[in-house]
Amino acid sequence: MDKKKIFITYNIPEAGIKLLLKKGYDVEVYSGKKLISKSELIKKVKNADGIITLLTDKIDKQVIDAMQRCKVIANYAAGYNNIDIEYAKAKGIIVTNTPDVLTDSTADLTMSLVLACMRQFNEGEKLMRSNKFQGWRPKLLLGYELKNKIFGILGMGRIGFAVAKRAYAFGCKIIYYSSKRHTDAEQLLKAKRVSLHTLVRESDIISLHVPLMEKTKKLLNKKLLSQMKNTSVLINTARGEVIDEEYLISLLKKKKIFAAGFDVYENEPKVNPELLKLENVVLLPHLGSATHEARNAMSELAAKNIIAVLSGRKSLTPVN
Ligand code: GLV
Ligand code: GLV
Repeated sequence: MDKKKIFITYNIPEAGIKLLLKKGYDVEVYSGKKLISKSELIKKVKNADGIITLLTDKIDKQVIDAMQRCKVIANYAAGYNNIDIEYAKAKGIIVTNTPDVLTDSTADLTMSLVLACMRQFNEGEKLMRSNKFQGWRPKLLLGYELKNKIFGILGMGRIGFAVAKRAYAFGCKIIYYSSKRHTDAEQLLKAKRVSLHTLVRESDIISLHVPLMEKTKKLLNKKLLSQMKNTSVLINTARGEVIDEEYLISLLKKKKIFAAGFDVYENEPKVNPELLKLENVVLLPHLGSATHEARNAMSELAAKNIIAVLSGRKSLTPVN
């Protein structure tokens, strides 16, 4: 029998690649220096039985139509808005993601952004690096503490809950808006479920943890954003498109909110140049899951999903 072929669109951490090789699959890792182009992707997926994709690979109808024997697309990410999962399903292709294993890393990064915004890390760093530090001053770069602040979680899934636990440990009061009630958050963290409107008006910190879908596109629109407190901080480690970014920038410019922390952008990897001019923002290059622990575990989980499906078993973390 022919060896089953696995195509991986980028050189991901090797843990998963090793697993696939051990299973005896014929594994091809895309060797280009840049991200794979659509035309190359279409060529490469033709004969693959399983594919590991990145969140930057757009797997649309055209790419799916090129797949002649693919049974499983394992996305190397928790989010899967880059894949037309309905169309894949119609073609009998299972799509999987990598939830859980990146939850703590993403929650850690979210809290880093919260603290960086509340205490103006970027301004402090800039001062030091420009040799302008003249010594301790009573009013130098004053920020806000977390204790007793209202921390609004928008989307209480796994990551939202992990962030809520951290915020609770810092002494915050947790409120959340979510499609489902989260009884653990309510019992363990005294979290209160509120309307989106209330969350936006009452929170001192708002952190986004919803997946990008049709109904979450620009979920934080002008009307909602304009109701945030003047002293509030907004953090987005989910997807750029869930906020009206241009309007948020206009609020930041006018100092209508205290600060914002971005790990994701509306037109990623392009960044709105206006954002780069602002002092009250902290900008990171989509690093939510960027730890050795998470990225290795994501690699293993993606591989295990491929192995399960190609061995006729149920995948571990299907999304369609
Ligand atoms: C990262 O953004 C992911 O969805 O895993
Ligand atoms: C991601 O894994 C989430 O459920 O928030």
